[in-house]
Amino acid sequence: MYLITGAAGFVGFHLSLSLLKKQKKVIGVDNISDYYDTKIKFDRLKILRKFPNFIFYKIDLKNKKNISKKINKYKNKIQVIVHFAGQAGVRYSILNPITYIENNIISYVNLLEFFKDTKKIKLVIYASSSSVYGEKGSKKAVSSLAQTNPISVYSASKLSMELISKVYSHLYKINTIGVRFFTVFGPWGRPDMFYLKLLRGIKSNKNTNIYNYGKHYRSFTYIDDVILNLFKIINKFMTRGQKVSDVFNVGNPNSIHLKKFIGLVEKKMGKRAKKRYIKKQLGDLTLTKSNVLREKKIFNHEIRVDLNTGVDKLIKWYNSYYK
Ligand SMILES: NC(=O)c1ccc[n+]([C@@H]2O[C@H](COP(=O)([O-])OP(=O)(O)OC[C@H]3O[C@@H](n4cnc5c(N)ncnc54)[C@H](O)[C@@H]3O)[C@@H](O)[C@H]2O)c1
Repeated sequence: MYLITGAAGFVGFHLSLSLLKKQKKVIGVDNISDYYDTKIKFDRLKILRKFPNFIFYKIDLKNKKNISKKINKYKNKIQVIVHFAGQAGVRYSILNPITYIENNIISYVNLLEFFKDTKKIKLVIYASSSSVYGEKGSKKAVSSLAQTNPISVYSASKLSMELISKVYSHLYKINTIGVRFFTVFGPWGRPDMFYLKLLRGIKSNKNTNIYNYGKHYRSFTYIDDVILNLFKIINKFMTRGQKVSDVFNVGNPNSIHLKKFIGLVEKKMGKRAKKRYIKKQLGDLTLTKSNVLREKKIFNHEIRVDLNTGVDKLIKWYNSYYK
């Protein structure tokens, strides 16, 4: 049995769906935060609820008692915890830093405290972020062994989760793996992310803010590749007795200039975006570029979907969902 936190969120939804399609039992947890429009969260849940193997609980992980009240009966049945619940977004962490402490750090400790003495748990996977690397000052891809340098409370909260995981692995022999995601995109994506704001702007003839005058580079990673690599990690580390406390990059090594990405989307939409170029925002990184050589060796990290195909699939979904 799998516990997926953040199951109503973008990545948690896709992982839950893939597990359910493989006939696995999934307990989904989410507090349905209103950081972005909750309609898409309810629509994602509607799809998951079609599977009899899916159980959902609305739980705010900030509240420890709530976890125990609703999840206690499954405590000794859950084998894998995938913790994707949390407050995402670098820019919002400049405006509201406290929410990152509560939803990323405190919530995670509450979850680990609840499960720390459970013998059944084989693996805890949790979402970290490429933002932990900070500005590297060169265009070189960063390995998961590279030095970290958080420059926002968001990235500091993710790095804190990595440290806390090491502590729980040490104290309670829990196997933990942090996955540092790089700009995940695709159907059912987060409406607050740049690529969906761009599509919205193009469709509605409204301005789209282009930060840092479009001079960013991002390792855009298609959602199916994220799920593929999560399964590789689960399969590799599910074996009992295998001790692990590690952090991996999950991201496309091919980093794309934002202007190139915008041009590709415009071409496929058959329409230009109304661009409003603005300066780099506090906490923003100029470049993210994933190095997965270590991950290739350990669990055969793979990228199968090229940018062209990924953008095609994204637009197809966008046009059908936002009619
Ligand atoms: N999508 C990306 O490109 C990306 C990149 C790097 C890291 N991440 C991290 O991966 C994880 C998943 O990202 P996503 O894009 O699916 O985000 P998302 O916002 O769509 O999903 C997160 C979900 O967690 C829920 N949540 C927030 N606080 C909670 C709490 N206290 N208790 C219970 N549920 C809570 C939210 O309601 C939301 O549905 C996040 O931790 C995010 O920071 C994502």
